[in-house]
Amino acid sequence: MLTIDPKDLNPVQTQAYLQGAVGPRPIAFASTVDENGNPNLSPFSFFNLFSSNPPILVFSPSRRVRNNTVKHTLLNCEATKEVVINIANYDMVQQLSLASTEYGDGVDEFVKAGFTKVASNKIKPFRVAESPVQLECKVNDIIALGDQGGAGNLIICEVVQIHIAEHILDDKGGIDQHKIDLIARMGGNWYTRATPGMFEVEKPLTTLGIGVDAIPEEAKKSGIFVGNDLGILGNVEVLPTTEEINQFLAENTSINEIKENNELMFKKAKMFLDAQDVTSAWKTILATIK
Ligand SMILES: Cc1cc2nc3c(=O)[nH]c(=O)nc-3n(C[C@H](O)[C@H](O)[C@H](O)COP(=O)(O)O)c2cc1C
Repeated sequence: MLTIDPKDLNPVQTQAYLQGAVGPRPIAFASTVDENGNPNLSPFSFFNLFSSNPPILVFSPSRRVRNNTVKHTLLNCEATKEVVINIANYDMVQQLSLASTEYGDGVDEFVKAGFTKVASNKIKPFRVAESPVQLECKVNDIIALGDQGGAGNLIICEVVQIHIAEHILDDKGGIDQHKIDLIARMGGNWYTRATPGMFEVEKPLTTLGIGVDAIPEEAKKSGIFVGNDLGILGNVEVLPTTEEINQFLAENTSINEIKENNELMFKKAKMFLDAQDVTSAWKTILATIK
């Protein structure tokens, strides 16, 4: 294991390690205007949702590592206290990347990157028509995290108007997680497209799961179950009774025949887990343990 004190790294190295490890990061495509109303549009992946009541988003334009200057988006947020955070999807990624180019003062990245402006309802900055969700925000606070190159500036935004493209909605009017086709930033030049990698994890029981500590040591030490298996086994509320286990063995003679062989039994339980049959997995494990 590489063990590092960040004080021994330069800011570029620190940034590279942290951006490589903390991800995927969602992307705020921030639209602002300066005091004269000139539009600006830039992506920021130091971004997330922090509260829903009040609805608060935070993103962070950093001081540039190379020359310790600040970004137009920060100056505009300080001056006007308004920003539209446009959510980025896969169809926008190449133009969004182009919009991150460090154009000079007053250059309109909507024009340079080829995005379409739509007037906002409650604030001056424009929305990005191509974005599936556009969030009009007032800036409540800006917190500078330092004064050296690489220091972030937390822009704390309160959402005052939400716009959602109808084509990303599901039957119940919620946001369909496949249709929105989100992207996120990782280390280096890497991005990820959420849709192909999505999987569901059942929420923990509202009642209490028995916990990994309740799984028999013999099963845990077998090396057959990985961490995800243990999490699934620990998320059940009650274990099968002896009667249920006996009935299961009576109905499954092939399992009954191997019940003296722990390794084969645990492998069988693992097969049940892989097939999402947690109850049979537990019955097999408990039939093994004497
Ligand atoms: C996907 C992506 C994410 C980015 N995230 C950040 C970020 O979180 N913080 C930051 O300071 N710069 C970030 N950048 C770089 C800025 O977008 C870039 O410096 C931009 O030119 C700033 O524009 P501005 O000066 O008009 O505000 C990111 C760039 C890309 C392409």
